Amino acid sequence: MELRAFTLADAAVIRPWISGPTELLTWAGPGFTWPLDEPQLAAYAGEPACRTWTGVGPDGRLVGHASLRLDADGVAARLGRVLVAPGARGQGYGAALLTRVLTFAFAELGLERVELGVFAHNGSAVRLYERLGFRVGQVLPDVERVDGQSWSALQMSLAKADWSPGVG
Ligand SMILES: CC(C)(COP(=O)(O)OP(=O)(O)OC[C@H]1O[C@@H](n2cnc3c(N)ncnc32)[C@H](O)[C@@H]1OP(=O)(O)O)[C@@H](O)C(=O)NCCC(=O)NCCS
Repeated sequence: MELRAFTLADAAVIRPWISGPTELLTWAGPGFTWPLDEPQLAAYAGEPACRTWTGVGPDGRLVGHASLRLDADGVAARLGRVLVAPGARGQGYGAALLTRVLTFAFAELGLERVELGVFAHNGSAVRLYERLGFRVGQVLPDVERVDGQSWSALQMSLAKADWSPGVG
């Protein structure tokens, strides 16, 4: 898997990977509204503090997306919008994608810490982050209510000292 900068042409490819409003909320939190359209993706990708990437599989197909929102102090960033194409999940692409993003964050940007938020019931995402070394800090109960269910969010964090690029 290779990482390259996300382009607006990629937006047309990743949009169908999100199949409905619940999947949109699970993926991105409340920052986007359904239906996801290209102007929303363009505005997000154009934010000055945001670095966005597309993951390209060995056969040249687009398989993933992720971004980092850099803090103003240059010490930390928030990892977000982590997404693997539905047909490509469970094959290690998520781990490969994030290994490259985290190597960029710690080795190239020199950050001390990467943080993220994930819904507590999103097991495959939570396990992926834990395998990479992220640990749960705060638990935020009842941040969303979906179909009568209460959703909690986990705030997770990975310090540079705990990052090992061989993991994942
Ligand atoms: C979360 C997400 C990014 C994970 O991506 P992925 O490519 O499936 O991740 P991986 O393949 O690295 O790991 C997923 C599972 O596949 C397993 N796996 C990894 N490599 C494998 C392989 N070669 N063969 C079989 N299984 C494998 C992992 O052990 C893991 O299992 P688990 O979920 O039971 O722990 C993906 O499911 C997704 O896009 N979800 C929707 C959006 C979302 O929820 N994003 C996170 C928002 S915080």
